[in-house]
Amino acid sequence: MSLVVRALAKRYGSMTVFCDVSLQVRRGEFVAIVGESGVGKSTLLNCMAGLDSWDQGSVSLDGEDIGAMDEDARAMLRRHKVGFVFQAFHVLPHLDVAQNIALPLMLLGRGDRHAHAQRVAELLEAVGLPGLGRRLPQQLSGGQLQRVAIARALAHRPALLLADEPTGNLDARTATMVMDALLAQTRAQGASLVLVTHSQASAARADRILQLSAAGMAG
Ligand SMILES: Nc1ncnc2c1ncn2[C@@H]1O[C@H](COP(=O)(O)OP(=O)(O)OP(=O)(O)O)[C@@H](O)[C@H]1O
Ligand SMILES: [Mg+2]
Repeated sequence: MSLVVRALAKRYGSMTVFCDVSLQVRRGEFVAIVGESGVGKSTLLNCMAGLDSWDQGSVSLDGEDIGAMDEDARAMLRRHKVGFVFQAFHVLPHLDVAQNIALPLMLLGRGDRHAHAQRVAELLEAVGLPGLGRRLPQQLSGGQLQRVAIARALAHRPALLLADEPTGNLDARTATMVMDALLAQTRAQGASLVLVTHSQASAARADRILQLSAAGMAG
């Protein structure tokens, strides 16, 4: 899926988070966004998914201006085409690991229980958590939870994956494995990947690195 951000500005009252941010992500491209803490990376990613509002500019997915859509249309677009790994996981505490990962498939009503179980097992394997499907989130470590959040974002094979610090809580070896899984899954589907990261090693694997700063976006 292609993504175009044009002259985007976000403010909280009189505080400007960013202004005049423009970027393009081509179909199948992997773009990393780096920048200091507080500069607005998570905010920008939320805007790209239509999960947050902005004050000026536009965001288009596959040529469709998501600012012009109503909330229902945006939710439907996300459900079908977008995967999101939140910086703060947002794993549902009352569902076990397998149910959390299968959630996007349940929402889509795509495939039967057997197909869901198969996809969940494949993803658990890919993120290095084979056999942990029956655990509850509280029975996992932070890094394991983060990997569940990644598996969930990939479950429905989204055309666009937006990932906010997906390896922030992982040791170097596990981070590499999770990045391998993220890349393999997105490349296999020809999906686009936007990765926000503080990790040099992860950013270095992107097709392009963009730097967000108070002055705007620089390539
Ligand atoms: N609801 C809010 N009201 C006011 N200011 C906010 C709100 N949410 C975020 N901010 C501010 O917006 C700025 C951007 O926040 P954001 O979370 O996008 O930063 P970030 O680049 O993702 O940082 P980090 O690398 O630490 O995750 C910060 O200065 C933050 O304090
Ligand atoms: Mg952030």
